[in-house]
Amino acid sequence: MYELNLALDVIISAIIIIRSALCMPVTTLLFRIDSDASVFESGDGMYTVIWSTSQPGTGYLTYEYDGEEYTVYDEKNAAIRSDDVIHSVRVPKEHLDSNTYTYHSQHVAVRRAYVSLKGRTVSSKPVDFKGYSGQEEIRALVISDIHENPENAQKAVNCFDVKPDLIIMNGDEVSLMTDKYKFKQVLSYAHRFSEGSIPVLYTRGNHENRGEYGSGAVDIFKTTTGGMYYTCDYGPVHFICLDSGEDKKDSDWTYGGLVDYTSYVARETEWLKTLESAEDARYTVCVTHIPGINNRYGNDWSEILTDLGVDLLVGGHKHRINFEYNKDGAPFYQMLDGGKNGSDRYIATMLTFTQDGINALCYDNEQTMRGEYTFTFEE
Ligand SMILES: [Fe+2]
Repeated sequence: MYELNLALDVIISAIIIIRSALCMPVTTLLFRIDSDASVFESGDGMYTVIWSTSQPGTGYLTYEYDGEEYTVYDEKNAAIRSDDVIHSVRVPKEHLDSNTYTYHSQHVAVRRAYVSLKGRTVSSKPVDFKGYSGQEEIRALVISDIHENPENAQKAVNCFDVKPDLIIMNGDEVSLMTDKYKFKQVLSYAHRFSEGSIPVLYTRGNHENRGEYGSGAVDIFKTTTGGMYYTCDYGPVHFICLDSGEDKKDSDWTYGGLVDYTSYVARETEWLKTLESAEDARYTVCVTHIPGINNRYGNDWSEILTDLGVDLLVGGHKHRINFEYNKDGAPFYQMLDGGKNGSDRYIATMLTFTQDGINALCYDNEQTMRGEYTFTFEE
């Protein structure tokens, strides 16, 4: 029986390998990077660099740090991942800040026990990355709710005459997450506004939960929480990035009885309770998509975030600009970024963190200033 199984396996492998080898000259020519890399915050003092290719292959990052050459692979349980078109490499933040990195992918046509067929390798140009470098004013560009209209977002962003130090993409950048190509759209927006040279803080919107790849897209970030929630720092600013889940109950017909955000958000809430306030931070900012923090699937985040010393909550979802203090009894500011609003204009926001406070300036895609607000705090 063993000999029969072995013979069958060899025959099947031979057929797959011969077929792949015959197609190889064409498929490997078509192999290319189709979404350039962006550098995402992913918690624990780590970045996750993510890009995509037109066909499956490997992904790895090269850079020099502290006199040593590094090659870091997209791997899982010791195997270099080779069957995916989306590639992600997690590296310590200090390795990339004020440094240069290059990302590479090699086409892998087939991978079987003892035999693999690999095609050509494609590489990016070296990318200069600018992390926090002690600058006095820190600018964060908030672009929530792009909803697949990056041209409008671009027109609003063009109104700012200063460049951001980091990008906050707090959800609903696409309207569905039905397959990997939708996640590639998220990657293309992230790269468009960050050029892979500044960090991106991404949180999931309710629309990015909807579709067959909603769950798989979260795994790409390789967070240690296992979910799309993490904390990160940019110099004196501490961020708590949360996944607010959906905007309807699990039992709503929309989800066909196939979601369990109640358990997911309960786990997230337990994680949130384990956090300690960032004593050394000048500001603590909570980034989320849906702003209703006093009832996330029965969990009240207001008190937890208050105890963690949150100064400002940045939300989206409502498609309008809004500034409030003490919303839902939470004694901190809440700012909703505009995204796409009712009149179909898109509103983007530039947050500027200074020693004296946080300034929010908002423009729409018709170059109209839509709001300015300064949040000040007692020492
Ligand atoms: Fe939303």
